[in-house]
Amino acid sequence: MPIIRFVRESQDVFCESGENLREVAMRAGLELYGFKGKLSNCGGYGQCITCFVAVLGGNESDPLSQVTDLEKVKLSNKPSNWRLACQVLVNSSVIVLTRPQVALSNSESVINEAQQSELPA
Ligand code: FES
Repeated sequence: MPIIRFVRESQDVFCESGENLREVAMRAGLELYGFKGKLSNCGGYGQCITCFVAVLGGNESDPLSQVTDLEKVKLSNKPSNWRLACQVLVNSSVIVLTRPQVALSNSESVINEAQQSELPA
C-alpha cells in the first residue's frame, strides 16, 4: 500500500495503488489550494490549474501516472516536477510538496529530512 508523504504538512497518508492524489489529500483533510484555488477551483477537472504539487521523490523512478496531455499544456511554464494533483494517480510511495508556489519555512532542511526518512515499499 503506497504512502504519500506530504512534506508541508509533515504527514504520511496511506492510499490504494491507483488512487487519485487530490482525492487522497482531500480525504485526509489537507489543503491543496492556495488563495485563488480556495476561492474557486474546478473540483478536479483539470481546468483551474490551482492544485499544484511538486514531486520530490519516491521509492521508484516514476511513482505517479504519466504526465497527461492536459498537464503538458497547463504546466508548460512551471517547473518540470510540478503536477496537477487532480490528474495524478499514485502507483507507489511518493514525496510531494503541496502548494509549491507558497514559501515553506526552512524548506531545504524540511525537504531533506522528508527525503532521507525511509518510505514504506
Ligand atoms: S482541481 Fe482544478 S486543475 Fe486540479
